[in-house]
Amino acid sequence: MKINLIGVPLTYGCGKDGAQYGPSVLRENNMIDLIKNNGHTLYDLGDLVIPPASEEDQFKGHENIKYLDLITEVNTNLAHQVYCSLEGESFPFVIGGDHSLGMGSIAGISKHFNEVAVIWIDAHSDINTHLTSPSGNPHGMPLAASMGVGHPKFTDIYFKGQKVHPKNVYIIGVRDPDAGELALVDDLNLSYYSMKTVREKGLENVLNEVIENIKGSGVDGVHISYDIDVFDKSIVPGTGTPVADGFTLEEGKFTIETLLKEKFVTSMDFVELNPLLDDASKTTVKTAVEFLNHTFKCL
Ligand code: ARG
Ligand code: MN
Ligand code: MN
Ligand code: MN
Repeated sequence: MKINLIGVPLTYGCGKDGAQYGPSVLRENNMIDLIKNNGHTLYDLGDLVIPPASEEDQFKGHENIKYLDLITEVNTNLAHQVYCSLEGESFPFVIGGDHSLGMGSIAGISKHFNEVAVIWIDAHSDINTHLTSPSGNPHGMPLAASMGVGHPKFTDIYFKGQKVHPKNVYIIGVRDPDAGELALVDDLNLSYYSMKTVREKGLENVLNEVIENIKGSGVDGVHISYDIDVFDKSIVPGTGTPVADGFTLEEGKFTIETLLKEKFVTSMDFVELNPLLDDASKTTVKTAVEFLNHTFKCL
């Protein structure tokens, strides 16, 4: 298939240094060949330009949203790249960078398709707003903003208003939610599969339920936003917010394989690799490369 690779070397959304090196480290580790060797035609759009910003200015836009204006601007640019990729009939594959980039990806797909579904695979649900976030980090807010909940600058990225209807959102793998996020899960009646639920029901059953619901929902676009921290922290030390009791590498591969087999997925993010936090044997990079290789095999 035709794939547009879009790098987003962004770390201002996660409150830690290092996630900006995700795209370059993945490229150094043969990301390009990995895509081509699996038979795809690759258009490498390079990395977005992230404007420099000073730490003293981080709360200039809002007292509980770090780098509000910068994150808004980068995501607007990303949205346009994703939109244009789809218009050119190519699959947008976005590599981060921190997860605030989810807002841009979803805004871009939402402009192209009539109605989209989003599968959010993550140890966190990323549905905080400036009113509920304990950290002020935008990478904890993108899914809420995409549903139209949060600061107007975030909810109106690329075009005004809601990008994905809450009924079309599927969250899988969460084990570190905040209180305000759980309240929103209830308020919006979200399809929310915590890791506890995954363990109780079985991963395969959860995925089949998600697939059936998506197929019955009439959407014409399906986006996967894959946060590397859904993996157990033992195999991804190099991420900003690692959490225990996560996916094994096999479970991650099984998840992506099962979803991609349906041939309804039309775009994907892979985020939150932080090479500066990785261990000496580069455990996280290895996990990422194995997972991505399998992903491109199944695409
Ligand atoms: N819930 C926490 C927060 O909002 C952590 C979010 C982590 N998000 C991520 N994309 N890794 O600050
Ligand atoms: Mn169109
Ligand atoms: Mn996460
Ligand atoms: Mn995330």
